[in-house]
Amino acid sequence: MHVVTIGTGYVGINTAAALAYIGHSVWGVDVDAHKIEMLKSRKAPISEAGLDALLRLPLDLSFTTDLAECIQSADVIFIAVGTPSLPNGEANLAYVMSAAEDIGRTLKPDHDVTVVVKSTVPVGVNEMLERKIRMCVTADGGNDAYLHFASNPEFLREGTALLDTFYPDRFVIGTKDDIAYAMLYALFEPIIRQTFEMPDFIDAPSKRPETQCLRTDQISAEMIKYASNVFLALKISYANEIAGLAEKLGGNMADISRGMGMDKRIAPYFLQSGLGWGGSCFPKDSLALLSMAKDYDYEMPIVQAAVDVNERQKTRLVHKVLEKLYTLAGKRIALFGLTFKPKTDDVRNSPAVDIACELMRRGAVVVAHDPEGLALARVIYRDLGIVFCDDPELAAQDADALIIATEWPFYRSVDWAKIRTFMRTPFLFDARNLLRDQKELVSGFEYCGL
Ligand code: UDX
Repeated sequence: MHVVTIGTGYVGINTAAALAYIGHSVWGVDVDAHKIEMLKSRKAPISEAGLDALLRLPLDLSFTTDLAECIQSADVIFIAVGTPSLPNGEANLAYVMSAAEDIGRTLKPDHDVTVVVKSTVPVGVNEMLERKIRMCVTADGGNDAYLHFASNPEFLREGTALLDTFYPDRFVIGTKDDIAYAMLYALFEPIIRQTFEMPDFIDAPSKRPETQCLRTDQISAEMIKYASNVFLALKISYANEIAGLAEKLGGNMADISRGMGMDKRIAPYFLQSGLGWGGSCFPKDSLALLSMAKDYDYEMPIVQAAVDVNERQKTRLVHKVLEKLYTLAGKRIALFGLTFKPKTDDVRNSPAVDIACELMRRGAVVVAHDPEGLALARVIYRDLGIVFCDDPELAAQDADALIIATEWPFYRSVDWAKIRTFMRTPFLFDARNLLRDQKELVSGFEYCGL
């Protein structure tokens, strides 16, 4: 089938490349000319396991900044642009609206075309985009009877985006339109039924998943995405809340998480306590859900509590540091980890960066290291005042305390004894509990978990 993905961010590029791999003819479109140039020379604009190798394969995969160049032959058009938070928590719909306008303006349908929204959009927006596209197409004399619409939320995680795309647990298609459903099912059938040849550029799971496919209406599909992300966020916040009480009562949170996870109904995932959740989805989606509920005067105290507990984790850490250093004015803090989680170079919406800012606001000098996030951090956060350092040992030079803010496995293998000798005082705050079970590695430190 002929496919166009509008947006070549995490969702768009991974979807485009995976669909090309399973045999479709795919165009990736983006307004960012720099990204498109990189993609044309087969370089991934994001750091994602296996993506560079996938892009180097001889696939029917092309890129352009000009939607008109490829839209006419498309059978399926994905909208996969960002919906970042506005200051009031609402999702910013400017990019999805502009993608819909571009489709409406350039498409002259002469065969069945299904427009699929992959972007995470507030409830009702699929319907609004459909109305907009139909209106633009018919205003131009086009035949909108060829147009079909579906919502197909994306559940991929950064760092394992291709793995999640090729081996999904579930596939949700939100549409009442039988043609849209049939086209989307046919497009993804090799993935839904797991019949494609397993690629060697990502680690294969030990067993192919039994991917479940759910057909529902558009509104429910939109809600499944928010409800899933925010459920995971609140699961983490719950673990963090329990961890705080366990600390007071003398319990071992590692064992508590393990013991809870042994119950199949609870499952062991997303129970890792620490500095809390960040990234491009959980913070944005929890605020968007609260904002949607507010429009209907509907309170969501559980979601609100998850957000509050997540913020409190940062305060808890700062208070722990203050308990040892008394004041932060003039103190030097080494920060290990800037990305919002390990195995990505993404430093946006990172709790580690929030912590750096709070420490600096209180007068500390923050010297930060990250195994993969420094290049982006130096660009995005060049004005924040964080001192970026490529060498973890140099970052620890003369430090009054060291904080592990992202649980990079790399920090298990640094020479902690040597790092200790560089520091002024040996306070180690393991805000991700990375070394909780290997405290012998940091025996020369006064260790404090979160
Ligand atoms: C998430 C969802 O998992 C994915 O399905 C959705 O499509 C996009 O949002 P992502 O943001 O890439 O994916 O990261 P994820 O691995 O889910 O982690 C999110 C945040 O939660 C990170 O900051 C991570 O450090 C934190 N986290 C995760 C915890 O604090 N504890 C845990 O146990 C798990």
